[in-house]
Amino acid sequence: MKAFVTGGAGFIASHLEDVLIKAGCKVCAADIIEPAKCHNIAHLKDNDRFTYRQLDVTDVNALTKATADYDIIYHLAANSDIQRGGQDPAMDYAMTFQTTRAVLEAVRTNRIPKIFFSSTSAVYGDIKGNLNELTGGLKPISYYGAAKLSSEAMISAYSYMNDFDALIFRFPNVIGPRLTHGVIFDFLHKLKHSPKKLEILGNGKQNKQYVYVTDLVQGIWEFSQKKEPGLNLYNVSTESYTDVDTIADLVCERLGLKDVEYSYTGGNCGWKGDVPSFGYDIAKAKAAGWKFKYNSTEAVRETLRQVDVAYISSL
Ligand SMILES: NC(=O)c1ccc[n+]([C@@H]2O[C@H](COP(=O)([O-])OP(=O)(O)OC[C@H]3O[C@@H](n4cnc5c(N)ncnc54)[C@H](O)[C@@H]3O)[C@@H](O)[C@H]2O)c1
Repeated sequence: MKAFVTGGAGFIASHLEDVLIKAGCKVCAADIIEPAKCHNIAHLKDNDRFTYRQLDVTDVNALTKATADYDIIYHLAANSDIQRGGQDPAMDYAMTFQTTRAVLEAVRTNRIPKIFFSSTSAVYGDIKGNLNELTGGLKPISYYGAAKLSSEAMISAYSYMNDFDALIFRFPNVIGPRLTHGVIFDFLHKLKHSPKKLEILGNGKQNKQYVYVTDLVQGIWEFSQKKEPGLNLYNVSTESYTDVDTIADLVCERLGLKDVEYSYTGGNCGWKGDVPSFGYDIAKAKAAGWKFKYNSTEAVRETLRQVDVAYISSL
């Protein structure tokens, strides 16, 4: 199988590419990042089943040329930093929505039979309860969530109009080695530079589900091999939660720091657009074969065991 991965130099894509190559696929990773700065995929550069293309995925013509004879596009390019997108709505519009629109045009022109799309729990907004795929009244509260939800809508229409299959996973928080952002990254970065104090955004009680990246990418690979016609959408996650204070304690433990003084910016969310807590009902995904090795807090611990702290603090 020939697989094309957008956002291919990113955190999750780099792990997906590891799985695809191990499974025997030929993989092309496309990302806007210049090759010398693609640290997450440096280990793949000499693999003869792997190629890298520096490409702006919003460029419909360039993307259409690049994807001409691929069997599947795994579309992971996006602005993954929700907080930064909150300062500049154009980021989510271009990097998340317009990349999707370009991918869909390339799929339509090249008659590619399948795409995978990395969506997010942020499409729901601040809705309480166990969210499943049929939960309605979706009201994203971040530009990021809005760009993902509108991308899902475009995928639905393009898939129907052009008879290709589309698989959408709505990820929760994804963590693991090579992470590029998020609460663990933020705490490691802050504590390496100032080991006695830690500023925590919000009140520390934000409580979310975390999934370990290798569990996620294994699921993406297995589900994308199934013959499921049309559009198929799954909430994938662990079934447990971890709050931000617990993550702060585990990061301090990992760095061997004691008596760190925590300060809180206050309020129940980290920043405007942050959903303070959410929970998924993953019955549909489990019935279809979704499995995970690490529960939420185990995923945090394993990430802290595996992550390259020196690299993060050098950024
Ligand atoms: N990490 C999470 O917790 C999480 C949760 C839900 C959904 N997701 C989604 O999963 C996907 C991967 O996320 P990640 O955490 O690996 O983020 P990441 O930032 O590490 O990877 C995203 C990649 O997309 C690339 N990109 C952005 N705009 C581009 C463009 N115009 N052309 C080419 N490349 C472009 C970036 O350079 C980056 O390498 C994203 O779509 C993200 O929204 C991630």
